[in-house]
Amino acid sequence: MTAMAAPDEALVARTAARFAAPVSALEPLARDLTRHMARGLVGEPSSLKMLQTFVRQPSGREQGRVVVVDWGGTKARAGLVELGAGGSVRILAEEALTFSDADKRGAPEPVFDLIARAVGRVTHAQGVALAPLAFVYSYPARLERIDRAVAMASTKGWRLKGLVGQDVAGLLGAALRRAGLERIVLAAVANDTVATLMLQSYRARGRDAGARPADVGLVLGTGTNLAADLGPAGIRNLESGNFDGVGGVETPYDAALDRELDEPAPGAQLFEKMVSGHYLGEILRRALRDLGARAARDHWSAPSALATPFALDSEHLSRIAADHTGGLDDVDALLRSLGVPSTAEERRDVRALGAAIARRAARLVGAALVGTLRFLDAELVGRRTIAVDGSLWGGYPGFEALVRETLVELLGGERAARIETAYVKDSTSAGAAVIAAAAAAQRSE
Ligand code: GLC
Repeated sequence: MTAMAAPDEALVARTAARFAAPVSALEPLARDLTRHMARGLVGEPSSLKMLQTFVRQPSGREQGRVVVVDWGGTKARAGLVELGAGGSVRILAEEALTFSDADKRGAPEPVFDLIARAVGRVTHAQGVALAPLAFVYSYPARLERIDRAVAMASTKGWRLKGLVGQDVAGLLGAALRRAGLERIVLAAVANDTVATLMLQSYRARGRDAGARPADVGLVLGTGTNLAADLGPAGIRNLESGNFDGVGGVETPYDAALDRELDEPAPGAQLFEKMVSGHYLGEILRRALRDLGARAARDHWSAPSALATPFALDSEHLSRIAADHTGGLDDVDALLRSLGVPSTAEERRDVRALGAAIARRAARLVGAALVGTLRFLDAELVGRRTIAVDGSLWGGYPGFEALVRETLVELLGGERAARIETAYVKDSTSAGAAVIAAAAAAQRSE
């Protein structure tokens, strides 16, 4: 290292250190989240919506075939799911759909028509003419019944014209009728976090009727959110991506990202903007651009794909973290594919910054879980199960260990050991089927 390089090196290190999220910042965040839950539940001003779900924990004995629609990111899926004995779930067929940026900014009906046609292809191929349908709509929506959900603000880069205020289940039902699928009947609409929670409970109780159901459903993918079983208040969708008590861990990069995006609006989805897969790469990109100019990392500020917002995504972050070669060869290849040459030192910097950003996300998740669990059980005396799904949890090397570490720091080893995290991969479609079947059983009770 030359004498000239030292201040620049220190600037990079200081920038990485800004993402530290120490316990002194996480503890107040966790407490604030618990308070926001309480306020949201009684309808006082709160950044947590605490939305009703109109479904209770499954018994584990639910059975039957359910058509499912999973819409929650750049992709949607239509499928057919079979619930069998002993908590078993089989995906009999599934088709994925991708949406263009134009789709995301247009009228809602064409999007619902695309989904309904996919349902038509799946059910036709499976010879199903008559079946209940479960719709997982993974954006904020206020349920008024198990089959009625009024869209609230958009998240994750969508902005359909005039969607807010409309019943998304009704819109899907209408699209199914336009597609000639009158006998595929929308039976339930739910959030993905609820699907994750319900699937974990179904599997556990299907194997052992006396098993404890999951207490919390966590999704950590393109977006992030929590659902929790609050006992008498029912299973609630927190919409925790909107939690705004994050001032103590905010960096100038977060503040600028929030200010410069128009959807979600500035001030909305603040927690999600620091934690979820849709944003982590963008935070790194912003840090690199900034340091390129200020820390003599010219390759980062020169014209390249790095100038384009959202050019980096969380898969890039995962790849960077997974590169264990001495020379960081894959980081090199990744940067080259974006038109960015790099020195070995720059690659080490990119890796350190990416790791710091992902680590902060994991620590924020840990703190949010602590805040949620304390609402259920202030002293955390009982055992608790958190069902988790999402590409960041499943794809970022060591993410779970980072969350665990935070639980131990905040709660101590003994309490943290009572919290189990169960990774329920690809839970949405299967969980949707459980929701529809559980809702049908609960209706007939
Ligand atoms: C966003 C949505 C929320 C969803 C989460 C995870 O935060 O608003 O409804 O659960 O993403 O997909």
